[in-house]
Amino acid sequence: MHPLLNIAIRAARSAGNVIIRSIQHVEHLDVTTKGRNDFVSDVDRLAEREIISAITKAYPDHAIMAEESGNSGDSDTVWIIDPLDGTTNFLHGFPHYCVSIAVMVRGKIEHGVVYDPLREELFTASRGDGAQLNDRRLRVAKRKELANALLATGFPFKNPQHLPAFLATFTSLFTQVADVRRTGSAALDLAYVAAGRLDGYWEIGLEKWDLAAGALLIEEAGGVISDFVGGDNYINSGNVVVGNLHVQKQMLDGITPHLTDELKK
Ligand code: IPD
Ligand code: CA
Ligand code: CA
Repeated sequence: MHPLLNIAIRAARSAGNVIIRSIQHVEHLDVTTKGRNDFVSDVDRLAEREIISAITKAYPDHAIMAEESGNSGDSDTVWIIDPLDGTTNFLHGFPHYCVSIAVMVRGKIEHGVVYDPLREELFTASRGDGAQLNDRRLRVAKRKELANALLATGFPFKNPQHLPAFLATFTSLFTQVADVRRTGSAALDLAYVAAGRLDGYWEIGLEKWDLAAGALLIEEAGGVISDFVGGDNYINSGNVVVGNLHVQKQMLDGITPHLTDELKK
């Protein structure tokens, strides 16, 4: 295993321990609002501190891009960290959230970890080495048609200006598939597509820390990820469509007619 991935796993597991230990105290947590419908708790901050300390112990010169504490350092290697993806779920006791850590080297995501501490599911990938779930090799689902597909999505709850366009894409896809889930954790949605548990996933306006690790999982599991017009600007726009080659193409066909100019990137 690559040493960078090894440290990412160690960091994700120790953040997972912080999250698990905090479950009993969830009503007493200090919760603040970062923006519209955007919450942060002590657990997010504490888990992030654990991750950063594991990284800087091993790699003091690397740069960090962390959701809660921001950017630090100046290096070709950047650690992209979401200490708790699914904070709203966590705060409500809804058991579906994870830790997401990616390592970007000279602008390319080279390693990724998504860790679900409740199910003890560790999704890992290194570029060129495939994707694993607890050491089992992952492949995206084989289903070729949208009919019978199970998709996931996220609602644009922080960006309500995109709601009409989102609902148009939802209507278009929902009427063609078996069903659509809204799980509340973008990183797990991506990991689940990589694992073949979902056939596809789309969401508007993710942040880099939501999607960096999951994007590599998708690619290494043989899937396709793009922005809403089929390009590779998703890491900047945060607009993602993922699935296997066939499903992803049909999803794009269902999405592109409904895009505003702002979403065509
Ligand atoms: C959120 C979750 C959610 C997605 C949001 C994200 P957070 O991350 O991934 O599923 O719809 O866009 O911001 O705030 O819980 O880390
Ligand atoms: Ca997140
Ligand atoms: Ca988060």
